[in-house]
Amino acid sequence: MNMNPTVMLQEAERILKLNDKGVYTVPTHGLYPFQWNWDSCLTALGQFHFDPNRAWVELETLVAHQWPDGMVPHIVFHQHDEGYFPGPGVWKTGRPVPTSGITQPAVLGLVLEQLYERSADQSLVRGRCEALVYAAARWHDWFYRCRDPEGTGLVALLHPWESGRDNSCDWDAALAAVPVDGIEPYVRKDITHVDPSERPTQFEYDRYVALVQCYRQMGWDNERLHDAAPFRVVDPGFNAILIHSEFALARVAQALGHDDVAERLFARAQRCVAQMEQLWNPALGQYSCLDRRSGCLVNSASIGGLLPLLVLPQGHERAHALARRIQDWLAIAPFGVCSMDPNDSRFDGRRYWRGPSWLVVNYLLIKGLRQGGMGAVAKQVLKASMACIEQSGCSEYYHPMTGEALGGGTFTWTAAMVVEFLTVQNQGS
Ligand code: GLC
Repeated sequence: MNMNPTVMLQEAERILKLNDKGVYTVPTHGLYPFQWNWDSCLTALGQFHFDPNRAWVELETLVAHQWPDGMVPHIVFHQHDEGYFPGPGVWKTGRPVPTSGITQPAVLGLVLEQLYERSADQSLVRGRCEALVYAAARWHDWFYRCRDPEGTGLVALLHPWESGRDNSCDWDAALAAVPVDGIEPYVRKDITHVDPSERPTQFEYDRYVALVQCYRQMGWDNERLHDAAPFRVVDPGFNAILIHSEFALARVAQALGHDDVAERLFARAQRCVAQMEQLWNPALGQYSCLDRRSGCLVNSASIGGLLPLLVLPQGHERAHALARRIQDWLAIAPFGVCSMDPNDSRFDGRRYWRGPSWLVVNYLLIKGLRQGGMGAVAKQVLKASMACIEQSGCSEYYHPMTGEALGGGTFTWTAAMVVEFLTVQNQGS
């Protein structure tokens, strides 16, 4: 495509506006016609550059659909659309505006901090920011209450979709153990929008649906689901994002003068960071998932196991080990850090989260690398991410060896990352 930065920025703004439904943004028309939790939060980073008020509205709309128990759902079904499965009629969560019954990575806190810090006049956004900090802290409380009932310091996912990395190899073994007898017949819609070779398999979909049905039968009662769940996996990436956001929220609470909230969040975040060590997998030389049902570490070297960069302090030996892995992967697959170790036999450069690179995760890695004082590696990841855009525009994901555009086109959060990369990250060290 070979666009210069000004043209790239214009294209990104065009996509953000194209997918804007007024108070929320769809990830892309057709394939994903509703509001997705972590898409929306990361989208706000891009919107802020053109229209700060619109960015705050994006977050406010999402938390307006927070559940009474504190969960912020992964999808809000604002309007009827036949083009997506599973729709509200499958989830049956009973919410006034229908939502799904599971959650997604907690990037809200980290985005909030960015918007607050970047606001020209912080006094003007104080009230809005306070309301969002309280909502996000309530969500985090929900995580530690309902997804870590034994107080281990690490939360579990009850559905692969909660990770945001739907068909990662990380879930293969745990998902294969999910019983599928009694699943109702269903028709997938995703493969009418995108080439099936770039999407999860039927085997996986059957189990995704079985899990939804199972939790629905339990009335979406989050006080009971964890212990009964046929899928219960502790993901290093998910926990790292949550802890990083918890620190960010604590800092904002402190800046707003809410010292009680700040202290509580700081203390919990510190305690949980220490628990990440349980997920270090010496055989892989990186972090990996823990199957909470079997008690075993999962031997799957995915990008989720690199995300603890978000919580490791400067100079930590594990942080350096992760940075080296990133460089090794980039040497094989130069178009963004791929979602799965390219040396693994299950690596598939076209199939969704089993190989392709995703710019939102690259953004989080850049953040972690900078925080860890590894600016030079961060720059490499930034360059590799921009190479995808230069080659193929704002796609859902990319083949990490060729930069080919894969999945949905004109993709919102990719466009938001382009804005972020061109306007903020490029100026960093
Ligand atoms: C897919 C992705 C998920 C994302 C959603 C909407 O399900 O795996 O991370 O939030 O699409 O873009």
